[in-house]
Amino acid sequence: MNILKDKVALITGCNRGIGKKILYRFAQEGAVVYAVARVEGSLDKSAKELSEKFGSKIIPLYFDVRETDKAKAALIKIKKQSGRLDILVNNAGVMKDALIGMIDEKLMKDIFDVNVFAVINMIQLAYKLMSRQKSGSIINLSSIVGIEGNAGQMVYSASKGAVAALTKTSAKELAPLNIRVNAIAPGMIDTDMFRSIGEEKVEEHLSNIKIGRLGTPTDIANAAVFLGSDLSSYITGQILGVDGEALV
Ligand SMILES: NC(=O)c1ccc[n+]([C@@H]2O[C@H](COP(=O)([O-])OP(=O)(O)OC[C@H]3O[C@@H](n4cnc5c(N)ncnc54)[C@H](OP(=O)(O)O)[C@@H]3O)[C@@H](O)[C@H]2O)c1
Repeated sequence: MNILKDKVALITGCNRGIGKKILYRFAQEGAVVYAVARVEGSLDKSAKELSEKFGSKIIPLYFDVRETDKAKAALIKIKKQSGRLDILVNNAGVMKDALIGMIDEKLMKDIFDVNVFAVINMIQLAYKLMSRQKSGSIINLSSIVGIEGNAGQMVYSASKGAVAALTKTSAKELAPLNIRVNAIAPGMIDTDMFRSIGEEKVEEHLSNIKIGRLGTPTDIANAAVFLGSDLSSYITGQILGVDGEALV
């Protein structure tokens, strides 16, 4: 369909899970993708394969999203090479569970550094390019638990609630510049992150999803394609639940 033809996108956390599938779908839809992973060289092979398969340009970038200098250098590279940035997908995230009484400062910092502070940093960097071109779409990954809460996940759910709030705020601020900011709030998606809760809990959650199955990374990637494309050109400040009517 090529609905992202020639759009320049930056996606974080592309080596597995949801981010890997967003990269795949963006490549399939014709985007030029700057794909971020942490481990040097880890995306080289798949980037080459996707480029050959779909004729899209995939450029791997390697940095930890907490490294603000490296993130800045990446945006400078994008500006030099492509001259613009149309879509930013803040997908990289971490989940660590702890009951109230068991939460320490390290856990809070580990989660907020990646899920919130790095997202704010990336938005600020993308804004610099997008504001010049007076267009752009920023897509953040929130979560159903950021809206509904979940026992055992006070810190993680707070970080994803913060993502929802910063999405709405930046959408208000950036709408006059024609920069749209939306979030996707996935339910239970079958990835390493979700499976890390253990088989027993996976089964328990499954019985609480009305559509009767776990979500797939493709379910989320398709929402990201829509929000990144011009099909959603009048949609901003929204938190799009993609959860098969799940209860948490
Ligand atoms: N799966 C779900 O059910 C679910 C539900 C709601 C929301 N979400 C959100 O969706 C997003 C993707 O989740 P997922 O299920 O695909 O998770 P995942 O399988 O655990 O993958 C997480 C990705 O984030 C990357 N990442 C983590 N910390 C990073 C850092 N400091 N710098 C750069 N990259 C980093 C990981 O890279 P490494 O491989 O190097 O660790 C990996 O690529 C997350 O924001 C998550 O909170 C997921």
